[in-house]
Amino acid sequence: MTDQVPTLLRGRLLSFHSAPAGPQDTAAYSYLEDGALLLIDGKIAAQGAYDAVRVQAPENVRTVDHRPNLILPGFIDTHIHFPQAQVIASWADQLLDWLNDYTFPAEMRFADKAHSARIATEFYDALVAQGTTTAVAYCSSHPASVDAYFEEAERRGMLMLGGKTMMDRNAPAELCDTPQSAYDDSKALLAKWHGRGRAHYVITPRFAITSTPQQLEAAGTLLKEHPGCHLQTHINENHNEIALTRELYPDAAHYLGVYESFGLLGPKTLLGHCIHMTGPEMRIMRETGSVAVFCPTSNLFLGSGLFDKAGLEGAGIRTAIATDVGGGTSYSMLRTLDEGYKILQLQRQRMHPLTGFYWATRGNADALSLTDRIGTLDAGSDADLVVLDARATPPMALRMETVETLSEELFVLQTLGDDRAVVQTYAAGQALKV
Ligand code: GUN
Ligand code: ZN
Repeated sequence: MTDQVPTLLRGRLLSFHSAPAGPQDTAAYSYLEDGALLLIDGKIAAQGAYDAVRVQAPENVRTVDHRPNLILPGFIDTHIHFPQAQVIASWADQLLDWLNDYTFPAEMRFADKAHSARIATEFYDALVAQGTTTAVAYCSSHPASVDAYFEEAERRGMLMLGGKTMMDRNAPAELCDTPQSAYDDSKALLAKWHGRGRAHYVITPRFAITSTPQQLEAAGTLLKEHPGCHLQTHINENHNEIALTRELYPDAAHYLGVYESFGLLGPKTLLGHCIHMTGPEMRIMRETGSVAVFCPTSNLFLGSGLFDKAGLEGAGIRTAIATDVGGGTSYSMLRTLDEGYKILQLQRQRMHPLTGFYWATRGNADALSLTDRIGTLDAGSDADLVVLDARATPPMALRMETVETLSEELFVLQTLGDDRAVVQTYAAGQALKV
């Protein structure tokens, strides 16, 4: 994006430096009442007080005044299923029935490139509408779906991660690959997309139930050959899933032991759900630096269980938060924070709004090891931003009449906000929300 006119965004800036230790931890973030970002060539060239940044702007700068709205780093969704855009809101029992009855049939249609391309357009429109500038997605098992996913990201200048779902058993034949074809297709897609523009390829074995040991071994080989890539899979989401996994891998000490034995764990490994964890699994998570991904709306919708944020983090495990559409019920990270807050409330773990907004921005960027590019408003970062209006609806505006602090405002956004509160979404300096 080298042909952009330099842009000066004026507004109230909020960006995090670390996880807030508590409500009083003002060192964890920067907040500027009258701030500005200077965007040049898709990056944040300067940030700070408006008066200080304005004088650094080139003559041809275009100014957009977003006051009194908040400008934050764009939201990051660390676990979502691109081919489940038409699965969301399907009336199902629990995980395994939901997969068999709705999810696998819907994913079968992604063998068709035209269908993949159409859904990709809608999928990205939904992300942008909600202020999400980066997501980590499972595509279907068909290479065409991966091409459609990254082609649309490239068109919009968005930093997206994703990969072909590897699955060679316990699913319809139309979705099943083989250990060899999954390896070959993933490797070819990785060679084509990883590092092209802003694309990051993610090695994606769906979960132990739909992969033979031979396929998990192939995934491990691929990861060893490409240590710069992320790997994503699911674990400990549902009791029936865990029982079936134990039957399929009787020699493993526990569910995580399956993934460990094939070399799938490490600081770039994202493990969706992590609800029903045992002590030994927690220790291995910490030792390997693997990331536990909380998917609140999905965990409630499928009746999966309650993610123990304090327990996991207290054990030294890295965490992230995500929508998990289409098990999840909203593309909105605001709705996701709200439902996550309620799950934690049920466990007497009251999440402060500063912690929530940290998590959805810098926290998720840290979990992806991408904080040098996204998740903050630091100079040098990519210009991926969300602009939020806490008075977007009449009930929000009414509530805001009594709000006195930034934390209260964030809590109104989290509890009452959705796409109507997202005024604008910028990816690489480009305003994308129509
Ligand atoms: N486990 C394996 N596949 C899936 C999926 O598509 N969604 C969820 N929520 N869990 C899974
Ligand atoms: Zn998932």
